Amino acid sequence: MSKELEPLADPGLPEHIHRKADIDPIAAKRAEQQVAILFSLSALGTLLFIYSFFFVKEDAFIFLPILGNTNAHQLGIGLGMAFGLFFIGIGAVHWAKTLMPDQEVIAQRHELKSEPEDRDALVKAAKEGAQAAGLGRRPLIKRSLIGAAALAGLPGVIMLRDLGPLPGKDLEKTNWKTGTRLVTDPGDRPIKASDLEIGAVAQVLPELLPGQKRTLEDIGKDAVLLIRLRPAEFQLDEERLSWTHEGIIAFSKICSHMGCAVALYEQTTKHLLCPCHQSTFDVTRAAKVIFGPSARPLPQLAITLDSEGNLIAKQPFSEPVGPSFWERSS
Ligand code: FES
Repeated sequence: MSKELEPLADPGLPEHIHRKADIDPIAAKRAEQQVAILFSLSALGTLLFIYSFFFVKEDAFIFLPILGNTNAHQLGIGLGMAFGLFFIGIGAVHWAKTLMPDQEVIAQRHELKSEPEDRDALVKAAKEGAQAAGLGRRPLIKRSLIGAAALAGLPGVIMLRDLGPLPGKDLEKTNWKTGTRLVTDPGDRPIKASDLEIGAVAQVLPELLPGQKRTLEDIGKDAVLLIRLRPAEFQLDEERLSWTHEGIIAFSKICSHMGCAVALYEQTTKHLLCPCHQSTFDVTRAAKVIFGPSARPLPQLAITLDSEGNLIAKQPFSEPVGPSFWERSS
């Protein structure tokens, strides 16, 4: 005969231990002040972010032990944002652990959708909970929380400034103008047709005007590849042929797929290759795409000679260089 098992006795809930702040008004006051200090530190962190963003120069450096020379602008932004978020979080946790209601609640299982009365009860309980959290009774926490929370969202808004200004037509223009001399890169020396042997490739940039400085953005748009073939090797229409000079043809070096530098030239096949996603352009056919993801040929720069025999641009690029993007017409 099997022996019947005794049902397990309900162990019940362990005895509730009250927190110090629940029974000692001085401890409660101390906890309130601690929370307010944490929220205030958060507000200070956000103010540090704002100050660094607007008033610390981007090229200002300070020396820090271990880190060495450190960019003060970026350090202030990073630390300010970290403090702003860290202390508001710590303050909220400390508030919840020390001062918010500390009751054990048994939640009964129920159907997924609650009865209307239950939902009303939830709303009521939420309101009571908000009251019990003591915001009304603890103005110090309330004010410091409002201050910290109001400032905490600002970094996200302020950083939107870094998205601008909009490029407008800048991406469609380069520094190549009618008559601009081609100069070697590096070296900035004017280049003559005789400097290039058949099969040779050279990277060139537009000559700088006196006092003009070249920026990385300029190079990112202006870089041009010069390639010399035998004139008979070209398969170009009359107009494009007139843009070459004694077998020298010039293309934008900026890939029309996603803007990498088209840096590889295969002398035997006369192909230019982009190393990023392998777009391949046929030099003899005006850089027509013969392989890869690029949708457009590399823009061709029309070249000719000036009175001193130096290569110059005959006209600006006839289309924007670089990647295709949705606003563009070409
Ligand atoms: S950027 Fe040149 S192939 Fe993608």
